[in-house]
Amino acid sequence: MTELDMKAVEAFIGHATGQVIGAVTTAMVVMGDELGLYRAMASGEPVSPEALAGATGTHERYVREWLAQQAAVGFVRYDADAATFRLPAEHAALLATDEGPVAMVGAALMPAGLFRRLDTLAQAFRTGDGVAWGEQDDAVFAATERFFGTAYRNSLLTEWVPALDGVGAKLADGALVADVGTGRAAPLLMLAEAYPASRFVGYDSHPASLEVAAQRAAEAGVGDRVRFEVADATGYPAEGYDLICFFDTLHDLGDPVSAAAHARHALNGDGTLLLVEPLAFDDLASNIANNPGAAMQYGASAFLCVANSLSQPVGLALGAQAGEPRLRDVLAEASFREVRRAAESPFHMVLEARP
Ligand SMILES: C[S@@+](CC[C@H](N)C(=O)[O-])C[C@H]1O[C@@H](n2cnc3c(N)ncnc32)[C@H](O)[C@@H]1O
Repeated sequence: MTELDMKAVEAFIGHATGQVIGAVTTAMVVMGDELGLYRAMASGEPVSPEALAGATGTHERYVREWLAQQAAVGFVRYDADAATFRLPAEHAALLATDEGPVAMVGAALMPAGLFRRLDTLAQAFRTGDGVAWGEQDDAVFAATERFFGTAYRNSLLTEWVPALDGVGAKLADGALVADVGTGRAAPLLMLAEAYPASRFVGYDSHPASLEVAAQRAAEAGVGDRVRFEVADATGYPAEGYDLICFFDTLHDLGDPVSAAAHARHALNGDGTLLLVEPLAFDDLASNIANNPGAAMQYGASAFLCVANSLSQPVGLALGAQAGEPRLRDVLAEASFREVRRAAESPFHMVLEARP
């Protein structure tokens, strides 16, 4: 038997234990979000477990244990003399709201959704069969909408659209826009609210996501200019769009080359393809070395992106960290002539392609 380097074992115990603590904490974060515990602490005032339970319609004994865990992991501060707990403003900005630039409680929903489909995914690993997006748990759809929503709110209107050649002006004048794989349509609705002269169509193969999207459009008061249709990325009507968007979707598709070729055909001659993809380096070694989000992205990719792609014809399975050269190959195969990286943000790269 190989003699173990016990120092390396101890170091790895610390590392591995941290991941398990993270998983447990993630479950507690989902609980705190679901029950409104963080929102009730958002003022930053110290609270007793009794007061927090009273304010949220929950039971004190459970809430006391939740607060103890949150204090132990450093998410809330504990005052032992007063027996109260407080959520610092800097933590509330991540945990108690979806609105601000650093909101991230939605991200905790993603692993919750993955855990709920472990059996399905284990079977897919054995057989090689795909698992369609629509077969995932609702928590995955909510996480996508809420967590990616933060990134879109921070960058879409202020950085990404202005970085595209002439697109801001066209949207302001009145353009026809398609969003492929629109899901719950968070970014499409941001565009619709910002550009009242333009019209928007969201396509997706998952009807339940589109029902939520239509509800969100009505709530935002843009339902007259935004419509949704169940359609595959390779089969929606080619209506001469000025702008076709793929937000975090192209790499999920079974046949991204055909989807990009269809988009090229569906654009008008002067149109623009906006491709938003996870920020990644070009190869696994570089992602491991340089991308702090790589472990999260490869996990989500295995469970969601690769699984969805393998559920569809061709099953190219680019994975969530395909990297720019691979994405450029896809666009070149689809006969896009001009491709450039127009922008990037902490989680995304933005490619602009012209027919
Ligand atoms: C990661 S989600 C992104 C959703 C949305 N664009 C966003 O950023 O919030 C990928 C979306 O692509 C959709 N999708 C997957 N395969 C598709 C296909 N072949 N045709 C159309 N939509 C597809 C899924 O149903 C899902 O809504």
